[in-house]
Amino acid sequence: MAPLLGVLALVTLLSPGLACPAPCSCSTKKNGRLLAECAYRDLREVPRGLSPNVTILTLSANRLGRLGRAALAEAPELQSLWLGYNHISAVEPGAFAHLLHLKNLDLSHNRLADFPWQDLRGLAGLQILKLSNNRLSWLPRGALAGLRELRSLWLNDNALTTLARGTFEALPALSQLQLFHNPFNCSCKLFWLKEWAQSTSAALSGAGSTLCAAPPRLRGRAVTDIPGALCVAPSAQLTYLSGPAQGGPEDGLTLSLHCSVAGSPPPEIHWRVRTAGGRRVDIHGPTAAKAGRRRFLAFKNGTMAIPGFGKEDEGTYTCLAVNEVGEREVSVSVALAGSEGPAEELPRDDPQAGQPGGHGCAKGDELDPSGMGEKLVIVYHMPREARSGAGGREFRLGILPLALGLLLW
Ligand SMILES: *[C@@H]1O[C@H](CO)[C@@H](O)[C@H](O)[C@H]1NC(C)=O
Ligand SMILES: *[C@@H]1O[C@H](CO)[C@@H](O)[C@H](O)[C@H]1NC(C)=O
Ligand SMILES: *[C@@H]1O[C@H](CO)[C@@H](O)[C@H](O)[C@H]1NC(C)=O
Repeated sequence: MAPLLGVLALVTLLSPGLACPAPCSCSTKKNGRLLAECAYRDLREVPRGLSPNVTILTLSANRLGRLGRAALAEAPELQSLWLGYNHISAVEPGAFAHLLHLKNLDLSHNRLADFPWQDLRGLAGLQILKLSNNRLSWLPRGALAGLRELRSLWLNDNALTTLARGTFEALPALSQLQLFHNPFNCSCKLFWLKEWAQSTSAALSGAGSTLCAAPPRLRGRAVTDIPGALCVAPSAQLTYLSGPAQGGPEDGLTLSLHCSVAGSPPPEIHWRVRTAGGRRVDIHGPTAAKAGRRRFLAFKNGTMAIPGFGKEDEGTYTCLAVNEVGEREVSVSVALAGSEGPAEELPRDDPQAGQPGGHGCAKGDELDPSGMGEKLVIVYHMPREARSGAGGREFRLGILPLALGLLLW
């Protein structure tokens, strides 16, 4: 019996599926998985000659310095890759991309300042990702998107100062997250993390050591404890106003929209104009003070004026209020009616109908939590003779709000 076993062992060793690089020891586990054990070998490179069937590769505690694109090309079946405690400072993009069966990836205790995040896109089965004790200072937005099986994520002991909102969304299996010992800047950009931590079922391990390093007044405070009053998402309200242009009624109508915003830090105001004729204008910051002739004048105080408002300016006007906590938009669509008695189109019970002047036309907060609804404002001018019979080119200006709730065109 004994010689037969010996022959069997020899055959197994020599079969190509068990090819084993000289520094490593390889074995088949009970479940049939093939392990290549190459830890503590002073290796400077991933050894060549791995079996294409190897599923577990242990390379921890070596002296690997960088991983080239083809470093792991021999082992496409890998499910577990242990690379902790090396000197890895660079991983070439693509090095992990073909490891489609990978479940466990440990790169902790290395010198990574960057990571080929795009390689994770195809690794839908990844369950454990350890990148702790490296030099990562940022994660790109969406770095972890699509990791539906990810259970455990270690990012502690890095140089992270902030994280993009939504970084841990779309990780339905996440149960353990380690972020401690990073020099977080607890500006309102990071406020979402507090809200996320309160709502997630994942455990923020070592939450007590996940502290702010800046700003000075929050230093040493837990990132999950940023005072709510400091960070308030924007709210916005759009009102409108119109009147004769400064040069007199002959110059037509000036439409003024006013966007009043609140929030902390104070939101910036952007405008987005989409005219019915297909014109698209995006305005960031005040334009009124800048040189040149501009169609849409955006003022610092949140007012936008459109002098000589005409048919070609009809369209949707959106005010966007943006701060570090979030964004809010409120829209109004504006149409110019002709002079042939537009009042007939108006709902009789609208108390504001026919009154010129400013009226609220969309309240970002109370009326419209989604920020999606629109109101239609019809701006019209009516020759005076239509009312009094007197002649002349004078216009009467009016603004008629017509609540539609939905933009129809
Ligand atoms: C390696 O895996 C392939 C595909 O599963 C299989 O056909 C082959 O027999 C395996 N080789 C060994 C030596 O286990
Ligand atoms: C923290 O973030 C804020 C807002 O993004 C920035 O103005 C500030 O300079 C940052 N502070 C440090 C120490 O990086
Ligand atoms: C904002 O500033 C402009 C230009 O100074 C002014 O015409 C407008 O009335 C102001 N709006 C409000 C609401 O104060």
